[in-house]
Amino acid sequence: MLKGKHIVLGISGGIAAYKSVMLLRLFVKAGAEVQVVITPNGKEFITPVTLSSLSGKPVISDFFTANTGEWHSHVDLGLWADAMVIAPATASTMAKMANGVADNMLITSYLSTRAKVFAAPAMDLDMWKHPSTVRNLARLKADGVDIIEPEAGELASGLSGKGRMEEPQNIFDRVASWLVSPQPLLGKTVLLTAGPTYENIDPVRFIGNYSSGKMGFAIVRALSDAGARVKLVCGPVNLPTPEGNIDRIDVVSAREMLAVCEKEFPHADGAICCAAVADYAPASCASSKMKREKADTITLELVKNPDIAATLGKMKRPDQILVGFALETDHEEENAIGKMARKNLDWIALNSMREKGAGFKVDTNKITLISASGVRIDLPLMTKTEAGRKMVEKIFIDEKADS
Ligand code: PMT
Repeated sequence: MLKGKHIVLGISGGIAAYKSVMLLRLFVKAGAEVQVVITPNGKEFITPVTLSSLSGKPVISDFFTANTGEWHSHVDLGLWADAMVIAPATASTMAKMANGVADNMLITSYLSTRAKVFAAPAMDLDMWKHPSTVRNLARLKADGVDIIEPEAGELASGLSGKGRMEEPQNIFDRVASWLVSPQPLLGKTVLLTAGPTYENIDPVRFIGNYSSGKMGFAIVRALSDAGARVKLVCGPVNLPTPEGNIDRIDVVSAREMLAVCEKEFPHADGAICCAAVADYAPASCASSKMKREKADTITLELVKNPDIAATLGKMKRPDQILVGFALETDHEEENAIGKMARKNLDWIALNSMREKGAGFKVDTNKITLISASGVRIDLPLMTKTEAGRKMVEKIFIDEKADS
């Protein structure tokens, strides 16, 4: 299954290192060539003899072999790898990875590699929750490291909680499925807006809408699974960031969303505007809570928000693909095509509030994809996960194959 694949297995110094022997065994049994790189502390937990016997290669730990003076090239190692798997990744190794502290072979190899990197953290529950670890974790995710989250359970300290390294079989499955699945969007970056925007009226009230972010996050998962790096700009939503090469930037208002999109779009290969952006915002936001006893009626002055999709449409280069959504209640197709033209979009995904099971909040959607060149694809009612996959396939993958 993994014949011809090159894996660097990085082992750092934690008790979970004993599980890495099983992980190594699984990779080797599947036909992969594995080079183990172990930190000096890792060797306190598991011997290089065990690891070299199983991998069939000398284990690398130091920059030089002491008696021969042979130099181990972290650059060659980094380039040789198809994937680098750091398991266990201790709090210290994660901190060094996040900050580029290249004081051992494992970190220098990590910094030199162009391969996909997976890290399976393992530590005590309080270390896992510590703000420093939380910061480093966020940095690693933003850098594109695929984090295989630890499980909750009994820990070596005798305490119970989240921090146990994921089981070797599950780490193997995750890495192997990435290695064997096609990654047609590897090296591509896609910007995506998701969720609602909130436009503040006063410190406790806002104008918003019912978007949950589910549709946008489903597309993010599909893009990431296809190998793309995703810049996810999302309004206030209650959803965890999907695993993968995803850089999430949280915003509140349309103006904040626009500012991030204008900055990121020039660096992207395309953008999908799935957010339900408020069309209007209060002309001003009261500095203190508006009191209800002051008046029986009030009038809010609203000003038009900037149109993010249209702004990106003006900035768009010929090599970029721009996709919008249209959420309609009537004259659906006509309105969607009009929006596509006004905003200079290449594709528009039409969903109608009149269709049962489509639109806001629900887990399903019914989308019609329409392209500026006249292609029309009617997707049936399906889960947002499936709809996200279909959209990515039709717009970013099939399109590329056709051109
Ligand atoms: O988040 P969920 O609960 O899963 O719901 C998903 C969804 C219904 C929000 C999603 O499928 C969807 O339709 N999103 C777009 C909603 C919308 O604002 O549509 P619109 O027809 O008003 O806008 C047209 C396009 O312009 C959209 O791509 C929108 O992101 C963009 N737009 C609109 C206004 C604005 N000021 N800036 C924009 O970029």
